[in-house]
Amino acid sequence: MAPGFAYRGGDVGEGPLVAATRTEQAQPRIVAVLSGSGGTGTTATAIGLGLALARNRADKTVLVDAHAGTPSLGTALAQRLAPTPAEIARDPWGAAALSTPDGLYVVDGLPWAAPLDPRDMRDALGVLTATYTFVLVDVGNDLSAPAQAALDDADQVVLVVRPGPTARPAALAALDRLATGGPGRLGTVAVAVVGDRSPLPRGASRRAVAVPHDPGLAGRTGIAAQRLRPATSRAYLALAARVAVTTPAAKN
Ligand SMILES: Nc1ncnc2c1ncn2[C@@H]1O[C@H](COP(=O)(O)OP(=O)(O)OP(=O)(O)O)[C@@H](O)[C@H]1O
Ligand SMILES: [Mg+2]
Repeated sequence: MAPGFAYRGGDVGEGPLVAATRTEQAQPRIVAVLSGSGGTGTTATAIGLGLALARNRADKTVLVDAHAGTPSLGTALAQRLAPTPAEIARDPWGAAALSTPDGLYVVDGLPWAAPLDPRDMRDALGVLTATYTFVLVDVGNDLSAPAQAALDDADQVVLVVRPGPTARPAALAALDRLATGGPGRLGTVAVAVVGDRSPLPRGASRRAVAVPHDPGLAGRTGIAAQRLRPATSRAYLALAARVAVTTPAAKN
């Protein structure tokens, strides 16, 4: 499939999306999932993207939480605590990301009381790229130094927005944040429009993917892959396809 496909919701067959998701990667990838405001659906989208990559690719995908706070990825996806980036950085051969039943690996954030050193985030990402072809980082709207370090190291960005009056200012705030790291990554941005009840309009950017409102997700932390509606799974697959066919930005 040519990298130019658009996905407005149901307009591209699943076969071509799977084929695009399987695009061979010349190098390991670090993909930051970013938003301009809280509660946008960033974590759900990052998990959905990670599940779609993990299910359809022969290589491995890991999702890293850049937030400080109560660790939740491990418990949400595998009912266990996952290691933190600090543990991975300090024990590169011993501490392994937590594997989940759906094939996605996860690394949790640190508790508030022990915030992460940005150098540990960088080191952890370096360690993870030796094993995982896709290292996804849930940055959300976190402005902390480790979250910024992850964003600076990313070769692609997925921007998550909700339709409505706040979408534009939130997206612009996130893009401003990206632009400070040089223009390279701006060319890689894929946009997930979450929770829309109608497809994206004809003529929408081919970088945009519509993730429909899914009642099985509303009000939850994490995603049970089996509970997703087919249209939601397909949207995450379309996002994975978009990510896999994008040429990564060169390192700054
Ligand atoms: N496609 C969707 N349909 C319905 N609800 C959704 C969808 N995506 C996410 N949600 C719900 O929206 C809420 C916020 O989602 P999520 O926690 O992923 O957002 P976030 O941007 O990571 O938030 P935070 O700023 O707290 O990190 C959650 O209850 C989640 O289950
Ligand atoms: Mg979140």
